[in-house]
Amino acid sequence: MKILGTGSVVPKKLVTNDMLSEFLDTSDEWITTRTGIGTRHVISDEHLEDMAAEAALKAIEMSGKKPGDFDLFICSNVVNEYVTPSLACVISEKIGLSCPCFDVNAACPGFMFTLDIAESYYKAGRVKTVLIVCADEPTRMCDWADRSTCVLFGDGAAAVVLGEGDNILATRLHSQPSVDKLWERRVLEPTPYITKTEVNTPLQMKGRDVFKFAVTASTTEVEALLESIGKTKDDVSYYIVHQANMRIIDAIKNYLGEPESKFPTNIADHGNSSSASCTILLDSCVRNGLFKEGDLIVFSAFGAGLLSGAAAIVW
Ligand code: ACO
Repeated sequence: MKILGTGSVVPKKLVTNDMLSEFLDTSDEWITTRTGIGTRHVISDEHLEDMAAEAALKAIEMSGKKPGDFDLFICSNVVNEYVTPSLACVISEKIGLSCPCFDVNAACPGFMFTLDIAESYYKAGRVKTVLIVCADEPTRMCDWADRSTCVLFGDGAAAVVLGEGDNILATRLHSQPSVDKLWERRVLEPTPYITKTEVNTPLQMKGRDVFKFAVTASTTEVEALLESIGKTKDDVSYYIVHQANMRIIDAIKNYLGEPESKFPTNIADHGNSSSASCTILLDSCVRNGLFKEGDLIVFSAFGAGLLSGAAAIVW
């Protein structure tokens, strides 16, 4: 397939590190040095589905497509206010889509998972035009008294319209199941028969383990991806890496031996918005005219599961 349009929307509320220091035992110095994050956009009075619908409309406008042109809509999302229907259905109603749609919960690498599904449907001859939306509000998953997690996240939504073409060169998905590294549980509605104990537990993360997985999975998968398409690192124009932590991005860059100029980032003023991260960054690169025709762009993301995904696209 080929990327025909992108769009993104972030919440209006900007939260600085100093604002967090007002109620947490933390500092701008600690957060900046350990994560590279200065500010993040945090949902306040917005609803995720409205932001996602607006991002989708921006991408559709850029693509020149109309709602009736779409054959499939896949939404990447971990959590939102609706348990059912899927966020994809909620967004579809808002923007007038009537094609089949569903959600994928692959956490931070959600964009690569949705891209892989879209490309597979396309190669099977089942679709020609696909909408992908990555919408996440991880700030609603954290314990805001836990300084080791809540400082890392921001919220947002971004969309990509895919049409006919051969620009997606390859996708790679990887799973290393390890639930205890990054998880959240919530209590479901009680029934007369429930006898087990259930406890609401906000996001729990073993930060150092996630850090190690992120660097290892990303570098291994990127190298395997390039080998699978007969390309080398010298052929790569840009890496769009999950915006989780600047130190993770730096470690990946150093391991790959690639220059900083190949790694556009927005983590300093966005934080980690889960699957929306890579796609918000993609949209800003597209709208700022960073990519030239023929550029090889490599995507890499990692997160809860533990899962990771990579994709190579020629612009
Ligand atoms: N402010 C001040 N001190 C803090 C803060 C904070 N916000 N957070 C933790 N600390 C303290 C800890 O309590 C600890 O103190 P102690 O030594 O007295 O116990 C000390 O800092 C060091 O803690 P570490 O966890 O060892 O710090 P580390 O250098 O590993 O950085 C971090 C923590 C930033 C979470 C890092 O491990 C990391 O980035 N991991 C990857 C996390 C990630 O990217 N997650 C998201 C990916 S998946 C997804 O997107 C959902």
